[in-house]
This record gives sequence, structure tokens and C-alpha cells, in this order.
Amino acid sequence: MLKKVLVVITLCLLVGCGKNDNELVLITEAGFAPYEFYENGEIVGVDIEIGKEIAKELGKELVVKDVAFDFIINEIKSGKGDIGAAGMSINDERKEQVDFSIEYVVSNQVVVVKNDSNIKSIDDIKNKTISVQLGTTADLYLHENYKDANIVTQKKYLAAAEDVKSGKSDCIVMDELPAKELVKENPELKILDGILFTDKYGMVVKKGNKELLDVVNKVLQRLIDENKIEEYIIKYSE
Ligand code: ARG
Repeated sequence: MLKKVLVVITLCLLVGCGKNDNELVLITEAGFAPYEFYENGEIVGVDIEIGKEIAKELGKELVVKDVAFDFIINEIKSGKGDIGAAGMSINDERKEQVDFSIEYVVSNQVVVVKNDSNIKSIDDIKNKTISVQLGTTADLYLHENYKDANIVTQKKYLAAAEDVKSGKSDCIVMDELPAKELVKENPELKILDGILFTDKYGMVVKKGNKELLDVVNKVLQRLIDENKIEEYIIKYSE
């Protein structure tokens, strides 16, 4: 027992446990280009650029933490992170748990299939095997509206892509720009015409943290007015 405690303390000293007041901790799931992804071992993307602007406004240093998408809200609720920024769609279930910023992106949900798939239209997926990222709005939407579908939940979109390539799944339902990036990396996949539904992204903070939310909103509004979010999207979609 004592040994265990010592190991934990040593680890904390080495890697830092608990939060530092000079840091703004941004929680994300970094498998979602162009919003957050790894480039040369570093997490970059639209949400990270926005996070940097928020940190600058606060006079803090930005720290980015990559977790499973379905853990993000808990990290914010428990205070382990300050801001959840992950191309996260605003919805009522989440609003019960955290506070959302103003919306900063509008996103369509699309269907990704194999090039030679016999699914020709988004209307043909109702009773198919569909991969989604666990805890996303696509996951929720399909469970609610596509009761005859077999839904495969994955932690990572890469795993969902493997499902479709290997024939384990018929398609993926996901956000449009990340789908475009996924298809670029996986030329055997394509996006079907049409959209299933539309989402709006917001960033999240702990419930009641109005002070931080006001700063997030102020920075987001400025970036929207200056057309910066569009610029970041173009930059990270190249
Ligand atoms: N927009 C979708 C949602 O909020 C998917 C977001 C996935 N984001 C990510 N970083 N993996 O549920």
C-alpha cells in the first residue's frame, strides 16, 4: 500500500497531477481532423487554435489533453479540465451536464461507405451495420431513429474506417469535414451524397463557470467576426 502511494506521488511529481493556475487545460479527442489531430507528434487543429486564443486572453498557458470522446464531459465536470473543445455538438443531454458556449461551427452528418459498396443512397442504411464514434451525436441519433440498424461503437474513427474497409460494417455516420479527411487518408472509402442531420458545435465548461464561459464566448465571437474560424478550417484541411 505505502509503496503504491509513493509510486503515485512520484509520478505526480514527474508528470504533474492536479491543476496549475497558470494553465488552461483543454480536453479533446484528437482523432478528428481538421478540428484536432496529431501532426508530427503534436495535437493541432481548429479547436486548438481557438484554445490558444482563449489562453492568451486569460494570460495562461494552453495544455491540451487527449481522452476518449465519451470521457470529455466527465473531465470537465470533475474539474480535471477547464474547456472541452472537440467539435462537440450542442444538445440537450449535454446541456444538462455542462455549459455550452455560443455556436462556432455548423456541421452536417454524412455517410461514409466503401467505394464499391452496394449502398447507393443515405436512405438505404436503415437496417445496415453502421459504425460510429462512441458517445457522439451520430451514436445517439442512430440509436433513437434507426432501431433496425446494427450499431457498432468505436472509440476512434480509425477503427470505424477499418470496420468498413474489412466489411465488418457497411458504413460510418460522422461529421462532414472529418469524414472528408478520413476519406483522403483512406482512398478506398467515399462519402455518399446528402446529409442525415445538422449539428452546431460549441465549447463546454463546468456548469456555472460563467467567468470562463464569458471569456470563451468573447474570444469565439471575435474569431467569428474576423472570419478566423473559416481560415483555421482551410488551413487544417490542406
Ligand atoms: N460532433 C459530434 C458530436 O458532438 C462528433 C464529435 C467528435 N469529436 C471528436 N473530437 N472526436 O457528438
